Amino acid sequence: MSDKNKITTNSGCPVGKGQYENSQTVGERGPVLIQDFFLHEKLAQFNRERIPERIVHAKGAGAFGKFVVTNDISNYSRAKIFSEIGKETKMFARFSTVGGEKGSADTERDPRGFALKFYTEDGNWDLVGNNTPVFFIKDAKKFPDFIHTQKRDPRTNCKSPTMMWDFWSHNPESLHQVLILMSDRGTPDGFRHMHGFGSHTFSMVNDKNERVYVKFHSRTNQGIKNFEGPEAESYRGVDPDHSQRDLVEAIDKGDFPRWTMYIQVMTEQQIKDYPWNPFDVTKVWSQKEYPLIEVGYFELNKIPENYFRDVEQAAFSPSNVVDGIGFSPDKMLQGRIFAYPDAQRYRIGSNYQDLPVNACPFMVNNYHRDGALKFTDNGGSSQNYFPNSFDGNHTSEEYEGKPYQLDSDTVNYFDRNHGLKGDDDHYSQPGVLFDKVMDDKAKQNTINNIVSSMSGIEGDKKDEIILRQLCHWFRVSPHLGLGVAKGLEVDISSFMPK
Ligand code: HEM
Repeated sequence: MSDKNKITTNSGCPVGKGQYENSQTVGERGPVLIQDFFLHEKLAQFNRERIPERIVHAKGAGAFGKFVVTNDISNYSRAKIFSEIGKETKMFARFSTVGGEKGSADTERDPRGFALKFYTEDGNWDLVGNNTPVFFIKDAKKFPDFIHTQKRDPRTNCKSPTMMWDFWSHNPESLHQVLILMSDRGTPDGFRHMHGFGSHTFSMVNDKNERVYVKFHSRTNQGIKNFEGPEAESYRGVDPDHSQRDLVEAIDKGDFPRWTMYIQVMTEQQIKDYPWNPFDVTKVWSQKEYPLIEVGYFELNKIPENYFRDVEQAAFSPSNVVDGIGFSPDKMLQGRIFAYPDAQRYRIGSNYQDLPVNACPFMVNNYHRDGALKFTDNGGSSQNYFPNSFDGNHTSEEYEGKPYQLDSDTVNYFDRNHGLKGDDDHYSQPGVLFDKVMDDKAKQNTINNIVSSMSGIEGDKKDEIILRQLCHWFRVSPHLGLGVAKGLEVDISSFMPK
C-alpha cells in the first residue's frame, strides 16, 4: 500500500527511524560512518541551494496573472496576443529593486524593475521594463561602469554616494532618470502603486507588413503611492520586505492589482521628423503629440506556490519578442538582447528555457539538443539536424519580418555637443519635468532628496564632483540648482566669474 507521507532519499529509498536527524555512528558517541549516504546527500544538497543572484535586480517579487485585450490595435500589430477584444493571455510578472542584493531592503531609493512575460501562442513575449519611462544611460557599453557605481566600493564594501555622483556628473545623459530617482517616485510604497514602462522604443508590424514604432505604458489602477525620503529610510528597518509582503497579502486576500496597458505610436515618417533621437532611452515622447492608446489590462491573481522555482528561476529577456512586435535601433535595447540570455545561461544553466515559468506552454520545435539538466524529452528519437528528408519541418513565410533600410557609416559615436543640442540635449526634458510637471511639494522633496544623497559625497574630489553636478542642475532649472546649492551650503558666488 502506498504511503505518500513516507520520507525518502532523492533516489526514493525510504528513510528509516532515527536516520533523518541522526548520523550513523560507531557507538552512541561517534565517530560518524562514511557510509551514511543520506547525511552526504543532505549536506551536499544544502551547499548547492543558492544559484548566483541576478547581477542586477536581485531582490524581487513575482506573481501570475492574465492580460485582457480591451481595444483593437490590429491596425498596428499582427501579434496574436492583440488579435481580438476580450482575448485573455496567461502571464507572469516580477517586480524588483535594481542595485541591492537579494537580502536588501525594498524601500531603497532605486528604480523598480517591472518585468512582464506573456505566454502567447506565437511564443513568450517579455516586456522587461522599469517603473520609469527613461534610463540613466543610452548605450549598453556604459552599463557595467554605471552598475559598478550603484554597487559596493571595492575597498570599503559599502555603498558610495561619491561613486554614484562622480559617474552621474560625468554623464549628463543620466539627468532625466536621476531627477525621477530623486523625486518621491524613487521610493514607491510597494509594487502595486507604481506605473510600468517598456521604456525603449519598440516596433510593431501589422498584417500588411506596415511598421510603426511604439512605447509601452502600464498605468496602475491602484493609484500612485510613494514614501517620502525619511519614511522610506525608516521603513528599511521596520520591514525590509515591505513590497514583497504587500503584494502577497493583497493577492492572497483576493485584492488583485491591475494595470491598464497603453501604447504611444510614431509612424516611420514621424520618427524621421522628431527633434530628438526617438530611439534614445534617456528621452520621452510627448504625450500631447503622441497620445496614449489603450490596449488592454493585466491583473495579477496568483502568488507562485514556490518562490525559488518560479521567481528566482524566472528568466525575462528583451530578446523574447513575437511576430508583430519587434526591436528598434535603440542602442541600449540592442545591447540588452545579448545580455539577458547570456546572464541566464550562467545563472540558471543552458536549459533555463525548459523550466516551467520560462517554458512556452505552446509549441517549441527545433534542433537544439542536450546540455546539463535536460529533463524534457530532448526531441526523443526525431532528427537532430535541419534540413532533413524525414520530419517535414519547415520555416514559415508568414513570419518573415519587414526589412529595415540602413544607409550610414560605422562609427563609435560620442557627444561632440557637450550635452547641449540635438540628440545630445540632456537638459530640456528634465527641465520640463522639474519646472512644469512637479508641483511645489514635489519640487521641494526632490531637492531635499538630492541634498541628502549628495551630502554623502566625500574624499579629495568632493568639491569637484559637487560643482560639476551643480552645473548640471542649474542647466536643468535655475530653481533646482539654487535649491540644491542652498541645501548643500555651497556659496555659488565663489564660482561666478570675478
Ligand atoms: C544595456 C543596458 C542593460 C543591461 C546590459 C542589462 C542587463 C541586465 C541583466 C544581466 C539582468 C539580469 C538578468 C537575469 O539574470 O535574469 C537584468 C535584469 C533586469 N533588467 Fe536590465 N540591463 C540593462 C538595462 C535595463 C533597462 C533600460 C531596463 C528597463 C527599462 C532594465 C530592466 C531590467 C529588469 C526589470 C530586470 C529584472 C528582470 C527580472 O525580474 O528577472 N534593464 N538586466
